[in-house]
Amino acid sequence: MDDGLEELRRLTATIRESEARRTHIVGRLRGERAASWDEIGQACGMTRQGATRRWSRSLHAASFGSVAGAYHRGRPTYPVSAVEWVVPRGARRVLDLGAGTGKFTELLTAAGLTVVAVEPSAEMRSRITVDAEILAGTGERVPLPDHSVDAIVCAQAWHWVDPARAVPEMARVLRPGGTLSLVWNVRDHAEPWVAALDDVLRRHTRDEIDTEPVLGEPFGPPERTEIRWRHVLSRAALLDMVQSRSYVIVLPADERRDLLADVTELLDRQGFGAEIVLPYVTRCSRFHALR
Ligand SMILES: C[S@@+](CC[C@H](N)C(=O)[O-])C[C@H]1O[C@@H](n2cnc3c(N)ncnc32)[C@H](O)[C@@H]1O
Repeated sequence: MDDGLEELRRLTATIRESEARRTHIVGRLRGERAASWDEIGQACGMTRQGATRRWSRSLHAASFGSVAGAYHRGRPTYPVSAVEWVVPRGARRVLDLGAGTGKFTELLTAAGLTVVAVEPSAEMRSRITVDAEILAGTGERVPLPDHSVDAIVCAQAWHWVDPARAVPEMARVLRPGGTLSLVWNVRDHAEPWVAALDDVLRRHTRDEIDTEPVLGEPFGPPERTEIRWRHVLSRAALLDMVQSRSYVIVLPADERRDLLADVTELLDRQGFGAEIVLPYVTRCSRFHALR
């Protein structure tokens, strides 16, 4: 064994550890509002923009655990026809990636499939109550052997992974010819009050999610479908849905209060009672592993 290679391995492990520690400290400082991005940038030898670019996305991705209850109460489930479309006939063992509190996991187990739910947040994982194998992991590092699942479903979570690392990882755990399906519930703006709701929410984020991604090799071209449906929920659950958006979770408390007041005012103007019907489009993409 070359000494240089061994030293490189040790150095890489040390850098990885230090990087994880640095990310943890940045998360704490931002969570407690104890430092600005300017100050964090300076401490890390970066510009403000460099520091924001480096961490703000991962802080958003890691933010769900703190609102796992609101997430589970407020976020919609998915139509059963989406499950039928995303999991090919004949598939038995399915990976639910970024399983969250288990909204899609539940539909997969109800369809009689053997499900492995992989989710990075311990708080989100702890809410999964269905009969599935539940593992800590990410799209970049899945704790499963090569070629061990027939299909993968990633509902409302693919935009949090780094595709450069997650695409080869998906191909590794899928059996050859297996499918990777990506699913997003998108509020249907065709209804004017939903468009108005989204205008209020968009004041707080510039991030647009690409719900029609292209993956490339070793996956074939995407097949797509859209399913229109209606989610019936209480007013409190709609406010939970708003509070469980990553960009709302990381807002300072006073801005979050103002945002919720704006949404409440919009609901009052619409004259909604206790029950609200929120139209959704479930957008699905399916990719076959070519090898
Ligand atoms: C919007 S939730 C979707 C949860 C669930 N699939 C659903 O449909 O309700 C996004 C989830 O992705 C998880 N996540 C964040 N980064 C991830 C990554 N790199 N790989 C896999 N999941 C990730 C979050 O912890 C969160 O639970």
